Amino acid sequence: MQPPEPRPRSQVQPYHPFAWPSGPSVGLVPPEDIAQSFCDVVAARRSARTFGPLTMTDLSSLLWYSSRVLARQGSALGFDLSQRPAPSAGAIHPIHLLACSSAHDSWQRYDPDRHCLTEVPHGLLAPRDAMAQVAPAVDPQQGTLLWLAAEVGKTASKYENPESLIWRDAGALIAHLGIVASYLGLHFCALGATGATWGAELDEAQLICGVGAALVGAPPCTDVSGHDVKL
Ligand SMILES: Cc1cc2nc3c(=O)[nH]c(=O)nc-3n(C[C@H](O)[C@H](O)[C@H](O)COP(=O)(O)O)c2cc1C
Repeated sequence: MQPPEPRPRSQVQPYHPFAWPSGPSVGLVPPEDIAQSFCDVVAARRSARTFGPLTMTDLSSLLWYSSRVLARQGSALGFDLSQRPAPSAGAIHPIHLLACSSAHDSWQRYDPDRHCLTEVPHGLLAPRDAMAQVAPAVDPQQGTLLWLAAEVGKTASKYENPESLIWRDAGALIAHLGIVASYLGLHFCALGATGATWGAELDEAQLICGVGAALVGAPPCTDVSGHDVKL
């Protein structure tokens, strides 16, 4: 059960980042900060399992405050290191965030440099099948499914035994997403599913491996009695 101890390699193994299949991109508008007490945000964080549709504004805010690149620096690894809101072993940030919903039946990958979403037109499990896989645990309803897809070769370029570093990166990112969702007043639930094989058709070398998933959405509309309204 104990994963092998990660160690920096005596010599780095330069890695060429994966070229994702790319469809059209849509720019996201940077959010305006909301005045909120950190204590209130932390106290209010709870997993919630009812999901209304997520607006592009809310998705933009969630991604901006959890994943966008704040600073970058060249490295000998074959790609830049970066600083983002969540931590990552070696500042490598191997985990890509992808989103889909029943309203947008295509995977959109977040570009943390340009703050935009780019469609991944092929190579991934169909969004409706991914949502069907997670539904026995938590029904996605009208919410958005987030998938954490790790580019293992990035962390492996610097570290021997990189696996536990990537899993811990995933945990740090999931926790951060939950806090940001609380700040934004969104419903958020981490999932036990990893989507391990959702990218199996992308490439033969298994460069992309799912390391987590979550559902996020607006609080569903409620009627005057406070009951959830089925839309
Ligand atoms: C890695 C991870 C996986 C989880 N998987 C599920 C899941 O599959 N289904 C679910 O209903 N909740 C899931 N949760 C949410 C937990 O059940 C929830 O965090 C726990 O009940 C504590 O509630 P709280 O988040 O409101 O504090 C998961 C949470 C984490 C961190």
